Amino acid sequence: AKRTIVTLPGDGIGKVVLEETIRVLEAAGFDADYVHGDIGWEFWCKEGNPLPDRTIELLKKHKIALFGAITSKPKDKAAAELAPELQGKGFTYYSPIVSMRQKFDLDICMRPCQTLPGNPLNFIRRGKDGNPEEPVVDVMIFRQNTEGLYGGVEWTNPGDQVYDALMTHPKFKDNFAWCPRPELAVSTRIFTKKYTSRIVKAAFEYAKKRGFDKITVCEKPNVIRETSGMMLKIAQEMSKAEYPGIRVEDVNIDAMMMWLTKNPENYNVIVAGNMFGDIVSDAFAGLIGGLGFATSAQFNPENGIGVFEPTHGSAPKYADYETSIVNPVAMILSAVMMLEHLNEDETAGRIRKAVMEVVAEGKVRAYDMLKLRGTPDVVNQGAASTRQMADAIIAKLK
Ligand code: NAI
Ligand code: MG
Repeated sequence: AKRTIVTLPGDGIGKVVLEETIRVLEAAGFDADYVHGDIGWEFWCKEGNPLPDRTIELLKKHKIALFGAITSKPKDKAAAELAPELQGKGFTYYSPIVSMRQKFDLDICMRPCQTLPGNPLNFIRRGKDGNPEEPVVDVMIFRQNTEGLYGGVEWTNPGDQVYDALMTHPKFKDNFAWCPRPELAVSTRIFTKKYTSRIVKAAFEYAKKRGFDKITVCEKPNVIRETSGMMLKIAQEMSKAEYPGIRVEDVNIDAMMMWLTKNPENYNVIVAGNMFGDIVSDAFAGLIGGLGFATSAQFNPENGIGVFEPTHGSAPKYADYETSIVNPVAMILSAVMMLEHLNEDETAGRIRKAVMEVVAEGKVRAYDMLKLRGTPDVVNQGAASTRQMADAIIAKLK
């Protein structure tokens, strides 16, 4: 049956890169209908709701979405930009991304970081003799997307019940009870066995599919014993019971930040909680060209809802469709992840190949570069606009 894909362009360059991505999908012959969903800053201003109910209904019905990016602002600034007729009516701004994640329980987040050969933005290590030796990065990061430190369970000036509970903990009583309660802030790091097992299992399944013989748990179990410790233990037990050919490597998050700058090629499958997964995926993204290449999939294996998106934001400066020069590759590769999720591996493979060819030809805009690395050799490379980049990819698909 023909699929229906919900498109959530959002704001700014989200609209630009999603438009180009759909052109690429169509050129590749992916047979689908697209229905537009409203999301983002524009709808906060107009309706006081950045994620309208009609959009939630669309997602429930069709389950698979391509998401561009949204503009978000802190609550106080947001209130000022609400339409005049909505001012003072008690609307509070919330992030539609976080809210989508929570509403649909999108607990599995996959963030691939794979070197595209010849990308002028690749991280290049200079050897002692001045020769570049380029490590090939091929890693999939599995980030638990709904729990941990980002679960939102936190207090400033905790009330009696919370405070009394804290006081039953010897470490709290000995080390922190001196603090006046109004000056005390507590953010909890919640890991549940159910969701920790799910993200770890997803990592093992991926390793098995790709033929890798280890997964790396990137946490800090020696210090954060209860939560990081839980993830490591679950991974070790699962390795023994279900994946005897795949071993578990335990690397602390801080050490990982060092190792990935020295030997990123040593890692293929990483699993982490919410915050460490967020950090480690940004760090790896820097090695493969940064925001123009960093993609992400979030989904829930039980309800089948999946949202595929680049990790960059709405970059308002580059929002004009006619003149935009941002890189559409992150969005296009997010769509490739969507195709893989839908078992459309053949189409996914053709698009990925076309992207790789265009990147290798040096079409990626040099301006990407300016922020990351300003050497003249690379600044002179590539001058494609967003649309020219997409056109070049489409030409390869023909
Ligand atoms: P941003 O990711 O929108 O842009 C920062 C800079 O990165 C841009 O100025 C540009 O130089 C570069 N960049 C971004 N996307 C690129 C691409 N595809 N190709 C080449 N270069 C690219 O982050 P910023 O400026 O901090 O935030 C702008 C707005 O986006 C804010 O309102 C923020 O809250 C929101 N945001 C939304 C996200 C989302 O929708 N997932 C994620 C991050 C920020
Ligand atoms: Mg992040």
